[in-house]
Amino acid sequence: MTAQEPFIICDNLVKIYKVAELEVVALQGLDLVIAPGELMGIVGASGSGKSSLMNILGGLDRPSAGRVWVGGNDLLKLSDSELNHYRQISVGFVWQQGARNLIPYLNAIENVELPMTLAGKTGGSKRKYAEELLGVVGLGERRFHRLSELSGGEQQRVAIAVALANRPKMLLADEPTGEVDSATALTIYKTFQALNRDMGVTTLIVSHDPGIAQHVNRVVAIRDGRLAAETLRQRVRKEGEAVSEEHHLATDTFEELTVLDAAGRLQVPKAYLEKFNIKGRVRLEMTEEGILIRPAPNSDRAEDAEILVTELVQAKKARGLRGIFQRDRKKSNGN
Ligand SMILES: Nc1ncnc2c1ncn2[C@@H]1O[C@H](COP(=O)(O)OP(=O)(O)O)[C@@H](O)[C@H]1O
Ligand SMILES: [Mg+2]
Repeated sequence: MTAQEPFIICDNLVKIYKVAELEVVALQGLDLVIAPGELMGIVGASGSGKSSLMNILGGLDRPSAGRVWVGGNDLLKLSDSELNHYRQISVGFVWQQGARNLIPYLNAIENVELPMTLAGKTGGSKRKYAEELLGVVGLGERRFHRLSELSGGEQQRVAIAVALANRPKMLLADEPTGEVDSATALTIYKTFQALNRDMGVTTLIVSHDPGIAQHVNRVVAIRDGRLAAETLRQRVRKEGEAVSEEHHLATDTFEELTVLDAAGRLQVPKAYLEKFNIKGRVRLEMTEEGILIRPAPNSDRAEDAEILVTELVQAKKARGLRGIFQRDRKKSNGN
């Protein structure tokens, strides 16, 4: 067995937005490796950097620092026009509002044909492939419906077909189930699963729903612009046993693992820190079984000392620096 080449590599990715005088750090050294054909979930609180990551992977934005490869393309080395071409041909986007992907006065199949027309395709093969895609997302019967005649979930599935029109190798979905009920969300997840299985499209689905682990093969959690944890599906398969996919989904278990990044940094879950009242400094102990994190003794006092130092510095500043230096010199003379 040979190790598979990764499809996506993010290496120490940094994204800083400058708004007027302020700098907002959206990604602060994110490392992520994704294999070809993975079906992944990306979760994280609002503002944790999920959309920033998607925009960089999709060629809508460039990182401030770090490196990123997708499908053999070094995205930092692409010129603006190459990046436009990459975005049009190699990436399919699905947004939270299905309507953002769709033209309201066209019917479903016309919407799916449109990106092919924009990419310069002509002839009957467009309609044939559009029909095929609408079939894959389960809307073959409704291909001539106008968007207003389709439900929110159906519109979102049209949007997925539209995203696939130019046969991208990667599908980026930013909170595609954010505005639909849970039953509709399920049909959308099933659509992604079918596409991933049948067409091998590498698929990244951003969600604020931790339950997404049920519907994908791997979930990564982003916290403060860094990869914090990964949830892996554990499939216990008995030898020679043939079990249906449905049965597997019911019996699979999930384990959340904390990620140690390339620099050795670790984000300890907040709940653990609160439980043991760990803040500021910690003591790491090596034990037989691993590394133990304890609150440092007197860590509260250590914090007090820090405050004291700050106050002293401020007081010195208030008195004027020259006075302080003179007094310091006197002191050292006296020694
Ligand atoms: N275009 C932008 N200009 C300025 N700040 C931005 C911009 N986009 C995102 N941010 C900020 O970057 C951080 C991460 O945002 P985002 O990537 O949208 O997170 P998420 O998708 O996880 O909610 C947030 O603090 C957000 O306010
Ligand atoms: Mg977002």
